[in-house]
Amino acid sequence: MKIAICPGSFDPITLGHVDIIERAADIFDQVIVLVMSNSAKEKSLFTVEERMALVEKCIHKPNVKIDTYNGLLVNYAKDSGAVAIVKGLRAVSDFDYEFQMALTNKSLYPDVETVFLSARAQNMFLSSSMVKEVCSHGGDIGSFVPTCIKQDIYNKMQRR
Ligand code: PNS
Repeated sequence: MKIAICPGSFDPITLGHVDIIERAADIFDQVIVLVMSNSAKEKSLFTVEERMALVEKCIHKPNVKIDTYNGLLVNYAKDSGAVAIVKGLRAVSDFDYEFQMALTNKSLYPDVETVFLSARAQNMFLSSSMVKEVCSHGGDIGSFVPTCIKQDIYNKMQRR
């Protein structure tokens, strides 16, 4: 069984993430959406548990499960028997950062491959940070996130 991990902060999950996860689930036997913390980013809007619950609401494929891990991604990959780490690539601006992570992970654990899926054209500009920015100013995030979590994001932003 070929297992792939889709790791990320998912703060919150966007339509771009959903697209990459669903496409990964069409390629691999099992996909684990791994909700993690990115030490390079500022404090997250949602807690890990909240981010997992939002992912759960948006993903309905039977071969996708959701998990969290608070350590090195490659250690989780080793323990879960994953053969691939799947990441979405948007513009060239993603490339340096993603390539650096892929090379670091490969050097730490050569048995796992990083596989890049290109974002769909309509998701090229989409990011969780942009969703939070638009939402914080009361803008419409309806075309950026699944409808089922739109209100959760507005509610959270209002309670800040
Ligand atoms: O959605 P993000 O914030 O771009 O995801 C980045 C994430 C969480 C996948 C990355 O920061 C990560 O893998 N963190 C876990 C710690 C780790 O393994 N670091 C080494 C990779 S260079």
